[in-house]
Amino acid sequence: MELSRWIKMATLIFLFAFVTGREPKVKARHKVQLPLYDPTLTKTMVEYASAVYMSDLTELFYWTCSRCDGLTKGFEMIELIVDVRHCLQAFVGVAKNLNATVIAFRGTQESSLQNWVSDLYWKQLDLKYPGMDDAMVHQGFYTAYHNTTLRPAILSAIQRVKELYGDIQVMVTGHSMGGAMAAFCGLDLTVNLGIPNIQVTTLGQPRIGNAAFASCYSRLVPNTIRVTNNHDIVPHLPPYYTHFPQKTYHHFPREVWLYNIGIGSFVLRVEKLCDDSGEDPSCSRSVSGNSITDHLEYYGVRLGCDDDRPCKIVLDPYLAPFASQDSEGNFILSRNLSAPALKMNGESTHFSSPL
Ligand SMILES: *[C@@H]1O[C@H](CO)[C@@H](O)[C@H](O)[C@H]1NC(C)=O
Ligand SMILES: *[C@@H]1O[C@H](CO)[C@@H](O)[C@H](O)[C@H]1NC(C)=O
Ligand SMILES: *[C@@H]1O[C@H](CO)[C@@H](O)[C@H](O)[C@H]1NC(C)=O
Repeated sequence: MELSRWIKMATLIFLFAFVTGREPKVKARHKVQLPLYDPTLTKTMVEYASAVYMSDLTELFYWTCSRCDGLTKGFEMIELIVDVRHCLQAFVGVAKNLNATVIAFRGTQESSLQNWVSDLYWKQLDLKYPGMDDAMVHQGFYTAYHNTTLRPAILSAIQRVKELYGDIQVMVTGHSMGGAMAAFCGLDLTVNLGIPNIQVTTLGQPRIGNAAFASCYSRLVPNTIRVTNNHDIVPHLPPYYTHFPQKTYHHFPREVWLYNIGIGSFVLRVEKLCDDSGEDPSCSRSVSGNSITDHLEYYGVRLGCDDDRPCKIVLDPYLAPFASQDSEGNFILSRNLSAPALKMNGESTHFSSPL
């Protein structure tokens, strides 16, 4: 970090101490029921969060991309959303083997990752979360989900899945900023659509709100696993100011911290289940967050793009009939579910534009 940033940070902390004055008594923490951690299911969600980074939309749409295999094999894409204006990508589909709808959000693209990470030091709690007392969140993360083409497209896809498959479980995942959006999505679907038992899995997610928000979130979306990896820098940001727990950003539970213990060439990976505070001092908080490398690989799966051209889109003209585009160039690739199941290998394919 450059010197000017340190000075800014020191000033910020000083001002913070100055204006804060007396701290209100920390209220007794709401007892949350911690979700069970299923390593295989979590790894499956990691593979979905990895696939959503792919820039060849044809391969992604047909689920034939290099990352569209393994635990996610057989996934049925329903809708692929590319918000070109805000450089966001997400998809909704059905995982038959899980009997669930899966929603995945892409994180920040790598070429701008460094800038994005340094900006995270300065992100303020600048938006009151609607309908929640004292809950403050980061407006940028909130609006990336709520105020872009993503939310309406996701809601419409969920509605179409429901018509065909009934009320199957909804699982939401994302890495990095995609994790922040996954959390807002899980909360939105719970609160505004009344979908029960939503499962959220985030990987290397930054903090997104204050303690009041974290507490509401964990009560409403208890089935959340927030995985952090070793020294990954992003879960340490925006910073947590220990002396002002009510005023700073605060993670929600349940963290699962991945770290290595090694003796010589023998390295053992540990998956540590953390407490219900969201800020377990013996998990990711026990080390300094100083690694971008640890941010880009979880469970041995690469999270990030294969190439570093920002917002590169590879769209086969063949997909045009299935795409709908708005005046800003954002587009949605959508499968018509009332048609029979997608057959690969040139057999009959039934698609149609959603409009
Ligand atoms: C979202 O967009 C609406 C309409 O453009 C605007 O009124 C609202 O203030 C925006 N919300 C946030 C949090 O930026
Ligand atoms: C899928 O989940 C739904 C809702 O929980 C349930 O009613 C249905 O029986 C499940 N289907 C299978 C094949 O497990
Ligand atoms: C979806 O496909 C079915 C059957 O092929 C067709 O009847 C229906 O009109 C299509 N719906 C849309 C929204 O295109």
